[in-house]
Amino acid sequence: MTEHLERTFVALKPDAVQRGITGQIIHRLERSGMRLAAIKMLTADDELLKKHYSEHVDKDFYKGLKEFMQEGPVIAMVWEGVNAVENVRKLVGETAPKEAMPGTIRGDFAHMSFKHADAKGKAVKNLIHASGELNEAMEEIALWFDEKEIEDYSRSDIYHVR
Ligand code: CMP
Repeated sequence: MTEHLERTFVALKPDAVQRGITGQIIHRLERSGMRLAAIKMLTADDELLKKHYSEHVDKDFYKGLKEFMQEGPVIAMVWEGVNAVENVRKLVGETAPKEAMPGTIRGDFAHMSFKHADAKGKAVKNLIHASGELNEAMEEIALWFDEKEIEDYSRSDIYHVR
């Protein structure tokens, strides 16, 4: 990959799947010009979630987070593009939908606050996960995907990022 061309891990959470808005969310990532390199639907098991959320396992909200993430299947994806980690996070918006700006995925499709989620003993339903840093992205991609599941093709508009 050329300089600044990165891969990032994205998961559409069970609330996005249940609400039938996965197409609209994927459309937002796709129209940015980034390349969808891998995609699959699966229900995350306990071990996968523990590894994925290793920094949250001991937090009060982990029980609610695990229940939320196992309510149904997620759509796991790898997206590739120039500064993909930062750019995807920008499209996704702040973690708490209440704080996320209009125009972002969480700001446009959800509205819940941490305060409300915590009062209910639940995880904040925020539709989508995206890696926060490049190292994290590489670890998460390796956790969720086999190398052979990642497809190597060119988008026809690659001309615009060469
Ligand atoms: P995500 O960015 O995927 O990473 C961890 C998730 O835990 C986060 O999205 C939220 O869904 C949830 N979360 C993080 N902090 C809190 C909190 N204080 N209360 C409830 N849920 C939280």
